[in-house]
Amino acid sequence: MEGIGISVMEHLLLSQRESPAATGQFTRLLTELIFSAKIIAREVKKAGLVDILGLTGDINVQGEQVRKLDDFANRVLIYRMQRCGVLCAMASEENADIIEVPEDMPRGSYLLVFDPLDGSANIDVNVNIGTIFSIYRKVSEGDTVRLSDFLRTGLEQVAAGYFLYGPSTMLVYSTGDGVSGFTLDPSVGEFLLSHPKIVMPERGKTYSVNEANEMYWDERTKKTVAFFKSNQNERGKPYRARYIGALVADFHRNLLEGGIFMYPADKKDPAKPRGKLRILCEAFPLAFLAEQAGGAATDGAMRILEIQAKTLHERVPLFIGSKADVETATRLMRQI
Ligand code: AHG
Ligand code: MN
Ligand code: MN
Repeated sequence: MEGIGISVMEHLLLSQRESPAATGQFTRLLTELIFSAKIIAREVKKAGLVDILGLTGDINVQGEQVRKLDDFANRVLIYRMQRCGVLCAMASEENADIIEVPEDMPRGSYLLVFDPLDGSANIDVNVNIGTIFSIYRKVSEGDTVRLSDFLRTGLEQVAAGYFLYGPSTMLVYSTGDGVSGFTLDPSVGEFLLSHPKIVMPERGKTYSVNEANEMYWDERTKKTVAFFKSNQNERGKPYRARYIGALVADFHRNLLEGGIFMYPADKKDPAKPRGKLRILCEAFPLAFLAEQAGGAATDGAMRILEIQAKTLHERVPLFIGSKADVETATRLMRQI
């Protein structure tokens, strides 16, 4: 019937029928993720109205202040996802160790990695935030889940995506067969297919980077960012600068319109030059989506998806977005 649209579940069931590898287990996983995200979206919408803003007073494993909504989103995801029956363990940006599904609950063979709220510094100022997720299959033998089950390459992801809590709530995900975008229709409470088969423009018109970090960058990084500042995009116009400070929102804009997001390594800690973004819960899922949409992602030298994660909370420099822009940045970053 016209005018109703395709719901995310309908879309998933149709794509499952086409892919014999897909199982009902994955549908179950996504159903529960969607339910969790609807609960988080509801709280995000109320954020300015109730006493949920501000900090919990705790410091997370990354040494950052945990905001109340971060904590809420994390708890909702852990509580709901460990009951979905198809996971054996999870890893969250907010938890130091892996979270095993308790033995008295039904377990499956999937692993879930998530950033419960990305861009959480934006909560108090009513700017976009999101939830990023990444899904793997357990590889070790037996019932025990090992850390090594999570320390994989990004190529091994079965699916990845994000929920974006913006003017409308969106779900963007891929199971390795292109990228689809869905928008939550609040009147019926369903995510409806709004962006089928998303393709990232080959070259974009936007660069996104926190230029206040320039004083901590090496010469190559300064030259690379300067290129986007001083050159013209495919339309013969200067690139425009856009930086939201929520990776998921900056990525989403560039996914739809084309562009490059950069968070290079810096020397804020002079002894330890490093990127800020986390490989498992941020770089891998978004790199998976970028490539599925025809874009690219590197750490300035290597394809992100080919990196082997060594620790759960490892960070990585990230250059992600339109293919030609990422290739340009990577070429400049490789020059000495
Ligand atoms: P999170 O809120 O999950 O800790 O992630 C914040 C990240 C990312 O979303 C964003 O792109 C980046 O931090 C912004 O960092 P700067 O403030 O250093 O630019
Ligand atoms: Mn984040
Ligand atoms: Mn976060």
